[in-house]
Amino acid sequence: MAPPVAKMKTIVIIMTCRDNEAQEGGRRSPCRTAGLAEAAHPRRHAGGAGGSRMGAESPARVNPTHRTGAHMEPSGIGAVFDRAGADFARLAPHLWDPIGQATVDAVGVRPGERVLDACCGAGGSAVPAAIATGAQGRVDAIDLAESLLAQGRERASAHGLAHLRFIHADATRWDAGPYDVAMCVLGVFMLPDMDAACARLAGAVRPGGRFAVTTWAGGALEDFGGALADAVREERGAQPASPASRGSVTRIDSESKLGAWLAGLGLGDVAVTRVPLELVVDEELAWLLVVGSGFRGMLDGLDERAVSRVQRTLLDALDERGISTLDATTLVGVGHRQDATAAS
Ligand SMILES: C[S@@+](CC[C@H](N)C(=O)[O-])C[C@H]1O[C@@H](n2cnc3c(N)ncnc32)[C@H](O)[C@@H]1O
Repeated sequence: MAPPVAKMKTIVIIMTCRDNEAQEGGRRSPCRTAGLAEAAHPRRHAGGAGGSRMGAESPARVNPTHRTGAHMEPSGIGAVFDRAGADFARLAPHLWDPIGQATVDAVGVRPGERVLDACCGAGGSAVPAAIATGAQGRVDAIDLAESLLAQGRERASAHGLAHLRFIHADATRWDAGPYDVAMCVLGVFMLPDMDAACARLAGAVRPGGRFAVTTWAGGALEDFGGALADAVREERGAQPASPASRGSVTRIDSESKLGAWLAGLGLGDVAVTRVPLELVVDEELAWLLVVGSGFRGMLDGLDERAVSRVQRTLLDALDERGISTLDATTLVGVGHRQDATAAS
């Protein structure tokens, strides 16, 4: 049974652009990132989106997987992200890297710590974690997509991070440890049994260590995901499959839900941080969000001409619906392993 919610701490952070400047080798990612056409000369915007307090739910808001069909098998998910390869890398400065850095900041990774990054992608969180641990620490970064792992290895090498290892492995089977920190950024809702997989990952942490989960806040990518699902359904005549489980995403898409879920895993002293991120999208960035992310799985099996039609339908719909900015707000939940937490 979950401990009382009153025992949880909730931290609500309203980030300004300066707060969210993700630093990696001197590169900065503002909290509101511009479309690709603007990226060479990014406009700066005052303030991020507002945070909401614990328990303040928005019932009308849904999540990025709404109106999608079945949840894919892990091998299919790995293949989707493998194919995303170069597009995933181009999307990274807009999406994956600022979210990864915000996660490492919320976790407070310290010098000398041993870190597990499950579902690591191309290193959006593993690289800043390894910078934070320094050479005295160690980061094991695991994923199913070999093309993303290869990118991660290149980044680790470019940063001289010999203590950061990118390993091809299934997060549901990884049994090394103990770690001071285990984290999973935008991946838990892809795991076939989110509760069992995360109980296991939390069990890889030493007593007193931290387990962190980053997930989409309710409403994030909602309008965009809806327009894409409509465009794909128009082409396929059926609900498209998704790497993310809709049920899993919605179970943890608010501060209170994520906090209670982490407490239910047996973690103590739970804190949830809201990380606002707004993307200004032009046509190029809009399509990159599809082909450089898990949304790409919705195109599986369509031939080139069908994909082009989906692209045109989506871009027209965004135009008609006046969607030029995307809410990509995430929640970072961090809990501490108590002695009783056991690996399953
Ligand atoms: C949305 S991406 C996020 C990647 C990275 N954490 C980031 O934020 O940049 C989700 C990642 O989870 C990986 N993934 C999904 N299921 C997995 C599993 N069972 N084991 C390992 N990785 C998995 C995918 O291959 C993909 O790289």
